[in-house]
Formats: sequence, structure tokens, C-alpha cells
Amino acid sequence: MLLEERDRFPVNKVTFYDNNAERQEIVAKACEIYFHENAPEVEFSYTTDPETAFTGTDFVLAHIRVGLYAMRELDEKIPLKYGCVGQETCGAGGIAYGMRSIGGVIEILDYMEKYSPNAWMLNYSNPAAIVAEACRVLRPNSRIINICDMPIDLMDKMSRMCGIKDRRELQYSYYGLNHFGWWSKIYDKEGNDLMPQIKEHMAKNGYLDGIEHEAGKEQHVEESWIHTFGKAKDVYAVDPETIPNTYLKYYLYPDYVVETSDPNYTRANEVMDGREKKVFGACRDIIAKGTAKDGGFEPDVHANYIVDLACALAENTLERFLLIVPNDGAVPNFDPTAMVEVPCIVGSNGFEKICQGPIPQFQKGLMEQQVSVEKLVVQAWVEGSYQKLWQALTLSKTIPSASVAKQILDELIEANKDFWPELK
Ligand code: G6P
Ligand code: MN
Repeated sequence: MLLEERDRFPVNKVTFYDNNAERQEIVAKACEIYFHENAPEVEFSYTTDPETAFTGTDFVLAHIRVGLYAMRELDEKIPLKYGCVGQETCGAGGIAYGMRSIGGVIEILDYMEKYSPNAWMLNYSNPAAIVAEACRVLRPNSRIINICDMPIDLMDKMSRMCGIKDRRELQYSYYGLNHFGWWSKIYDKEGNDLMPQIKEHMAKNGYLDGIEHEAGKEQHVEESWIHTFGKAKDVYAVDPETIPNTYLKYYLYPDYVVETSDPNYTRANEVMDGREKKVFGACRDIIAKGTAKDGGFEPDVHANYIVDLACALAENTLERFLLIVPNDGAVPNFDPTAMVEVPCIVGSNGFEKICQGPIPQFQKGLMEQQVSVEKLVVQAWVEGSYQKLWQALTLSKTIPSASVAKQILDELIEANKDFWPELK
């Protein structure tokens, strides 16, 4: 994607950084061949040395997964054993992942600030809500912008519902937390209201549009995702005034989610057996053949959005992006210190939030509960507090009681002992 977008975003140097040399070697070696064949003028390298990686850079595009898929699998399977939602970013699984991710993201943020203090970090690392709150608390002045591709993919779908080619033409209002938000207004570029059309579609089909399996799409195409897009119909029914993020299904229909989960084969297994094998297989193939011609790499929405955002910062385009930022009144009837997901105008001096006005009681109630979970996780990490993490789990809408929360917590502590700070 970076190479495809070179006309508007002229990269001259790309460096891969990973602290896992063995895993990096496969992807980076294949990309080296790809760069050599497709963009010999771009200086490409890869390293496990932070100083080399982070020196002389303008943008750090960060996607890390502390504990890899093996730990995602446990995040999903442990809560399910106790009859609770097992998901990588929602409920107990998201809390466990948050406790692993905070240290990892802060580590690379510190490298960036040490070696390239004027750079921006565009962060996709999950769970973004908890990571964003941790950065607000621990590194309040850092140049990190936390983002998510889910709303982007959903806006692609909305554009298709309305016969609009490019999602970037949509003008929208949106509020919430990451993986926990709602669209309240959607217009086309002439200012026509698109909500009636989108609502009609949502009431009938959720986000399903019949072209889920279209060639060229790589992300969000497997059966489990298609289920989620269909279930959005029931999520929408709870508040037909707004258009919901798909992730709300874990909070509004946790019983259904648990019933339809296979405790022995979760999304992590699907990904390890699917995407992981495919990506690493394609890379090994390129390395074996010594060429990336017909290598089958496809850019997806992740990359697309991140390039748009980097362009806005580099070239002061003042485009609208949905970012995870400190509330500070953007949602006036909600905690000013919360990290909320709202539209922002982005230019070379950073972002400016667009005030969303007061939100309805239903959303406010849900968000207050969820933001408290996220804040308690960060406090638990900072203070090494067992008590606060137990409270976080107890407060999660996906967990029925303090006793279940405690059982899950004790098992998560054991599973995460190589990653979490010690809790007292
Ligand atoms: C969406 C979310 C991401 C998440 C991803 C997981 O795109 O916005 O935050 O990482 O789904 O997808 P996967 O295919 O790994 O289940
Ligand atoms: Mn996301």
C-alpha cells in the first residue's frame, strides 16, 4: 500500500522493527525482495535494534501483538470456560490483552521519543481503548494517535448500501469508546441525509451486503465475521436512532455470543490456521523463488487508512478521521478524561476534535460502565493492584458476578505470568 500510494505519499525509506528476529526474518526477507523488484529507489531494511529502527523517522506505523496468537487463544478460551465472552479486545480477554499490551506500546513509544522526537506514531495495536488510556496517563504529551479500522470497514459497507463509490465522501458524526461506538449522523458530500437508507438496510440485513466474499477482500471475510455483520441487525434494533459498531454485540448479546462460540476452536484458531499460514506461506514462497512476481500480496483497509492519516499529518490536508482521543468536552455530558472515539480534523499540527454534543442516556450509561473498566485496568497495571483488576472484571458487562470475575482473574494471572506486572 505504501508503494501504491507513492504519488501522494512519497516514502524514501522503510525500516521494519521487531523484537522477534525469527518471526521478522520471514516477512522482512520477502518484503526485501518485493521492494527490490518494485521500488529499488526506496531504501528498505529490517532490524531488531531499536536505535537503528527509530532514528531518522517521520512516522512509526505500529501494529504489535504482545504474546502473539498463542496468548490471544488463551484470552478467548479462558473466559469461555466460565461461560463468559471470549474475545480478543472485549470483556475478560480484552482486559488480559490490555495488561500485556500497555508495556509493549510504551516501550516502542519511548524508543520513538528518544530517537525521533518529532515523529508521529500511528498505532493500531490492540486493545486500542486500554492502550490509549495508558498512553494518556503515562505519556500524556507523546505524539501517538490511536486508530481502528473497524469503523472504516463499516463505512465502506455503508457507502455500498447507498451506491457511493468512495467511503471518504461520507460526512458523519460518531461517538463512543474504541470498539464501543455509534454513528448518529451520516451525509453524502452534497449534504443529503443517508441515515434513512442505511437504517432500512440495517433493520433488514445488519451489515450484510451479499458481497462479503468478493475477490480481493482479505480482511473480515471469514464465516465468524460474516456472523458478526449479520448480528448487527439485532444490535441496531436496541437503538434504531443510531448505527452501531459491530463490537457492541459482545456487550448487548453476551449470552448469544457464548452459546454460538466453540470453546475448543475460537477466532485465534481460525486466524492461526488461516491468515497466519497464508501470509507466512506466501512469504516463504517468495523467498524460495527469489521473486515476488505473482506473490499475491493485497493491500487492505488497514493500510489504506493509515496512509490517508499520515498524508494528513505530513501535508496538512485537514481531512476528517475517526480517532481515539481525550474527550475534553467533545462529548460534553461524559467524563472529560475518557479516551473517546470521535471525528477529528487532522493537519500538520495534529488533530482537532469535532464536538459531538450531548449523548443519549442509553449510550452514556453503557460508556460510563465500560470506560470505568478500561481505567481500572490501567490503574491496576500502574499500581500492580489485584483488587483493581478484580473490580475491572467485575464491572465488565460481559461478566455476571464478582465470584466469576475472581475465578477468571486467577486463571488469567497464571496464564499471563510472563507478561503481566506482578499483582498484589
Ligand atoms: C477489526 C478490529 C481490529 C482487530 C481485528 C481482528 O479489524 O478493528 O481492532 O484487530 O478486527 O481481526 P481478526 O481477523 O484478527 O479477528
Ligand atoms: Mn479495532
